[in-house]
Amino acid sequence: MQTRKLHPLRAVRSDHDGEAKFKAVFECVSDALITLDSDGRIELVNPAAEEMTGFLKSELVGQPLSSLSPKAKLPSRTRALAPEIFSSEGTYEDIAIERKDGYPRVVDLSVRLMPGENAEGSISVVLFRDVTEKKRMERELITKHSELRNAFVELEKMNSALKATQDTLVQAGKMAALGELAAGIAHELNQPLMSIRGYAQELEYGLSSVIKGTPVEGEASVGFREIISGADKMAKIISHLRTFTRKSTEDFEWVDVRTTVEEALKMVSRQLTSRGIEVVRDYEPMSDSASADAGKDSPCVYGNPLQLEQVFINLTTNARDAIEATGRGSGKITISARVEGLFVEVRFRDDGIGMGEKTKAKAFNPFFTTKEVGKGMGLGLSLSYGILSKIHGSIQIQSEEGKGTEFVVRLPKDFRELG
Ligand SMILES: Nc1ncnc2c1ncn2[C@@H]1O[C@H](COP(=O)(O)OP(=O)(O)OP(=O)(O)O)[C@@H](O)[C@H]1O
Ligand SMILES: [Mg+2]
Repeated sequence: MQTRKLHPLRAVRSDHDGEAKFKAVFECVSDALITLDSDGRIELVNPAAEEMTGFLKSELVGQPLSSLSPKAKLPSRTRALAPEIFSSEGTYEDIAIERKDGYPRVVDLSVRLMPGENAEGSISVVLFRDVTEKKRMERELITKHSELRNAFVELEKMNSALKATQDTLVQAGKMAALGELAAGIAHELNQPLMSIRGYAQELEYGLSSVIKGTPVEGEASVGFREIISGADKMAKIISHLRTFTRKSTEDFEWVDVRTTVEEALKMVSRQLTSRGIEVVRDYEPMSDSASADAGKDSPCVYGNPLQLEQVFINLTTNARDAIEATGRGSGKITISARVEGLFVEVRFRDDGIGMGEKTKAKAFNPFFTTKEVGKGMGLGLSLSYGILSKIHGSIQIQSEEGKGTEFVVRLPKDFRELG
């Protein structure tokens, strides 16, 4: 006798009790369930499927499942309800369907095949799981994640800008302390110096009548003149120190940067030639007049010529020492100047010993020096930094140990306009 094997669903349904149980389960599961006959038409629809699609059971039964496909374009990152999906078992993700009210939904499908009643074809049981919300949250999470990453990058940038500002502030703080110290020392030294000079002058005058015509006359007057001129030199240094710390703009004027560089070079030219050091000028073409309205290519800046000269002297003497330290007995200093918008940029490049990272990091610190006692005070660069800060200028080092150093000085044409 031949027995036909029924698939479990049919087997349950063939039994009256079982059919009631099947119906109860089918009706109350929270996932949407639809069965398709062997022609791919909708046969059974549970209430969860009605709720998910917005269609009534009576509207769906007999229709092909593809009637649930969106009428217009598929939403991005979804697939269509292709008929081949129902001819093989499996799980299919990100399928687009359209509700009766036109709202698109994204569903994951699980398809199970069961043999049909008459051996031909098979019945498909399709379980729908609505993942629209899940997908929306996933997308939101991805957007939030990338927003967070961008914010993090922005934060890192701000952090490093903050660090640079902090470094500048620390340097500015050191300069302020140094300025106060210099002003104090200048004041303290000036008093005794003036009395030394006064007494020397009086003594010269008093003694001259006593020793006139004696063999010590010439010797004594030379000695007194030396004392007085030494005191004058010291007074000049003291007044220089005072100008470093002064804030007023009274000594400011329009200066041609090239002229100031030349003045500085004049002061040290003998020291350079005696060490076999050649100076190369590499100035871009610029206009000549030293005034505010000399045009865009004017190399003029509003500043104190003596202080700027001091900066250039410091840079030249540093280059001189760095070249001398190579022991070659010769070297080259290249000075370039060019106008860059509202700034004039001056570069001092040398082929001296260069600086390691540690020296570079400390070079602007007051009293930092790598030179032997008596040769360097470690003040040149910190004073230069202070002078340039006052006019909103800047100074930077580019250096490689064993190769040489370049100092880049940027001077605003008119610091008053920068606020
Ligand atoms: N062109 C350079 N090449 C190599 N090292 C340099 C150069 N300029 C400065 N330095 C380094 O930076 C340090 C600090 O320079 P800074 O001009 O402030 O002081 P100093 O030259 O040592 O002394 P001072 O300028 O008071 O005579 C120097 O001792 C040196 O180590
Ligand atoms: Mg120096």
